[in-house]
Amino acid sequence: MSEKKQMVGDVYYPTPEVVAQAHVPDYEKVNSAAVADLAGFWGRIAAENFEWYEPWETVLDESNAPFYKWFVGAKVNIVHNALDRHQRTAVRNKAAMIFEGEPGDVRVLTYQQLNHQVCKFASVLRSMGVRKGDRVTIYMGRIPELAIAMLACAKIGAMHSVVYGGFSTEALHERIEDSQSRVLVTCDGAWLRGQIVELKKIANEAVDRSASIETVICVKRTGQEVEMVAERDHWYHDLMNLPIASPKAATEVMDAEDPLFILYTSGTTGKPKAILHTHGGYMVGTATTLKWVFDIKPEDIWWCAADPGWITGHSYIVYAPLVLGATSFMYEGAPTYPNPDRWWQLVARYGITILYTAPTAIRGLMRFGESWPEQHDLSSLRLLGTVGEPINPEAWRWYYRYIGKERCPVMDTWWQTETGSFMITPVPSMPLKPGSATRPFPGLQVDVVDEEGNPVPPNEEGYLVVKTPWPAMLRTIYGDPDRYVNQYWSRYEEQGWYLPGDSAKKDEDGYIWIIGRIDDVIKVSGYRLGTAEVESALVSHPAVAEAAVIGVPDELKGNIIKAFCILRQGYQGSEKLAKELKDHVGHEIGPIAKPATVEFVSTLPKTRSGKIMRRVLKAQALGQDVGDVSTLEA
Ligand code: WT7
Repeated sequence: MSEKKQMVGDVYYPTPEVVAQAHVPDYEKVNSAAVADLAGFWGRIAAENFEWYEPWETVLDESNAPFYKWFVGAKVNIVHNALDRHQRTAVRNKAAMIFEGEPGDVRVLTYQQLNHQVCKFASVLRSMGVRKGDRVTIYMGRIPELAIAMLACAKIGAMHSVVYGGFSTEALHERIEDSQSRVLVTCDGAWLRGQIVELKKIANEAVDRSASIETVICVKRTGQEVEMVAERDHWYHDLMNLPIASPKAATEVMDAEDPLFILYTSGTTGKPKAILHTHGGYMVGTATTLKWVFDIKPEDIWWCAADPGWITGHSYIVYAPLVLGATSFMYEGAPTYPNPDRWWQLVARYGITILYTAPTAIRGLMRFGESWPEQHDLSSLRLLGTVGEPINPEAWRWYYRYIGKERCPVMDTWWQTETGSFMITPVPSMPLKPGSATRPFPGLQVDVVDEEGNPVPPNEEGYLVVKTPWPAMLRTIYGDPDRYVNQYWSRYEEQGWYLPGDSAKKDEDGYIWIIGRIDDVIKVSGYRLGTAEVESALVSHPAVAEAAVIGVPDELKGNIIKAFCILRQGYQGSEKLAKELKDHVGHEIGPIAKPATVEFVSTLPKTRSGKIMRRVLKAQALGQDVGDVSTLEA
């Protein structure tokens, strides 16, 4: 192994035990080979670790860039790799998913049992006429049926569109409308902090606004009375008991490049974008990154504490762990219910070996002090991870010290809904620096550049760019290929680089430090929200004529939302109205989007062409120099 290089800053070196068992013991070696022959690298991985109905002709087709294609000509289905193939081996009898509900109920599904449920639900969907290429919207809490519904769609070649259960009426309606789904799978409610989140009620309101939905399937979770519409609505358990719900169902043979799912994410302007991922590349990218970065072994119990409604859950609760034949743990509720040690109790009870969560959750639990984790045996843990926003070094060190007991490396993974899989991330054998996502995953080339694309000097801020394609990359924005090109590939069109929309620094050791978004995306507790969505929710209230929102730094949540509203004639700004507007945004988009403060103003700074200058509002709010306002409206 290469000698320990002298590195700059606060560096944590891996222990020899960690290096000895790592899938990637020497990053430099693997990375340089992968960079030298990217297609060869991924071609070998794809051939050795997955089952294909038919092999590919070309690993990577760049002829129509940025519409890249991977494993062209191959036939595959990700569900064949996640479930079908495991039925022939001992993995069949292993726990695929261990679930604990917030009230304390426990369910364990073996690979055989999960396959059984997925086949049954796939048969139900088929009997309802759902076919390859159709879209199915899924709006549920964090329960196994959410994964079952996703896998059933994928099995029959339908695209799922999961809408996070924390979203509300208008957000759900907008996503149903854009995808033109005919079927919605939902549940009566979800448990959160001892309360019921009334998902079916919200779903009913959203479907009332949407013309496309013909059928609603409802899982019974919380058991309260809900309104079921005759002809349109069916209970999941009734359908699963029908003879058509066959425990044996054929898996649709798909092209590697056929769509697997769409997932909406917030962008710079206008409505959310439907990010499209495919069966072949996404499978290879997500499974390989999980295996290498979190060093997955057969005996692990992997807990990705995200929600399946986000890309993190799609890739690393559902698909990648199952493709690897691993055991995935899922918890329904809040980390602090009934007490701030609920998570630590779960780690001890299930012997979780790897925990993957977000900085905001770590900061939230850190607030309660280390006496809570200290009451539990956390010795089963061997690796930790974080994702969603930059982690402040204090939170990193707390996590490392009090949760990982200075034994467990922390994998800070930078990636996006669009990238599908980890992009900038350590592997366990690599020296770590708190607050840095370290280096690109093997084969990937990233850099920090200026407007023209020149690399900026070490430790200076610039635009993060990705210079090479990767298998799990988004293929397009569903229904809007022009927006795909403009949004991600137009800034550095000549060079052909992907623009993630983040600013970053690179240090002397080549380590990347993500700073934050450079566009009108606000990260609140790691959730991605667009200013445009929140503003349009505000102006949908009768009192509001115009609105602008900005993100303001917050110690716990990373950012909070501050709203500026111009009222219509006849309305007076008041504390009561401010509360009403916050609740209105909560009702339309979801509690995560509620502005923390609402300020009533008589004008908003605008450019001559009428665009709101949020940068000016932000500088004013932070007491900073407003900068160049020469384009400001007179
Ligand atoms: C944005 C993508 C991908 C899973 C969850 C987020 C920020 C993500 C990190 C990290 C610093 C991060 C970026 C990125 N982000 N991970 N480890 N360090 N920032 O997915 O909702 O699509 O958001 O999250 O700003 O662009 P997403």
